[in-house]
Amino acid sequence: MRIVDDPKDLSAPDLCGCSFVPTMGALHEGHGSLVQRASASGRPIVVSIFVNPTQFGPSEDYARYPRTLDSDCALLAPLGVAAVFVPSVEAIYPRGLDAAREEAAALPLPEVAVRPQLEDACRPTHFGGVALVVGRLFDLVRPARAYFGEKDYQQLRLIEDMVTADRDRFGALEIVPCPTIRERDGLAMSSRNRYLAPEHRDAALALSRALQIAHSAQRVATAERLMRDTLDAHGLETEYAVVRDARTLMPVTGFERPTRALIAARLGSTRLIDNAPMTVWR
Ligand code: PAJ
Repeated sequence: MRIVDDPKDLSAPDLCGCSFVPTMGALHEGHGSLVQRASASGRPIVVSIFVNPTQFGPSEDYARYPRTLDSDCALLAPLGVAAVFVPSVEAIYPRGLDAAREEAAALPLPEVAVRPQLEDACRPTHFGGVALVVGRLFDLVRPARAYFGEKDYQQLRLIEDMVTADRDRFGALEIVPCPTIRERDGLAMSSRNRYLAPEHRDAALALSRALQIAHSAQRVATAERLMRDTLDAHGLETEYAVVRDARTLMPVTGFERPTRALIAARLGSTRLIDNAPMTVWR
């Protein structure tokens, strides 16, 4: 496994047609599962580790986001990864961060990243930064496939629609969704879980519990009320707890088509998200 910081080294013949897993590091088994899924493709695997400044809002955790390159490499080495791409901010944004933030704000985003009023409303500059960096990483790495976790379901839907809308740029690139990996007790694995104070660890379980409790509700309003009640009971501050169309992420009135329950809630200064598919009732 080699560490690549110069984008030029990504054009090595042995990385051609690779399977690509973009990350921000602080890797855990959730990231590992994406790499394992990528290894089933039989293609060389490239993992990127880049804490992307343009997707963090001004009051968010960019400065304190965990940076753990040594343990990240230790997790990746046994998984058959060909190269870990660890670019500098300058390599990704050669015109500087101010210009990059302007570019991110001006990017035309797919509807799924601007209409639902979920993450797009709570973190107004986030998806512009994600689309900018992922597009830039795809241009540099030129993968045949790229793997994204359902843990960040709205991000996954954004990337799927971004790639489909611009085949001139992204060619036949295939986006592969991967299921959310959870701790034994149900908590969705996340690099941000390490921020949780021990006394908040139990309360954080309210997100997965809320999704479980709502899973088989027969009405949308019931599912949404059950989720809110569960989050309230554990002392979380709910940003949203909703059931949406699984493709468009827009509101639904029933469960005739695939739907997704999505939650964002705060616990102290830590913001947690989770989501799950709902039962289809016909
Ligand atoms: P990061 O949060 O590091 O996540 C990298 C990838 O791992 C994403 O596709 C995310 O959905 C997936 N992932 C995280 N936790 C997971 C879990 N518990 N189970 C399954 N998959 C999980 O998402 C980002 O980085 C960034 O926004 C990025 C796409 C790299 C752009 O900067």
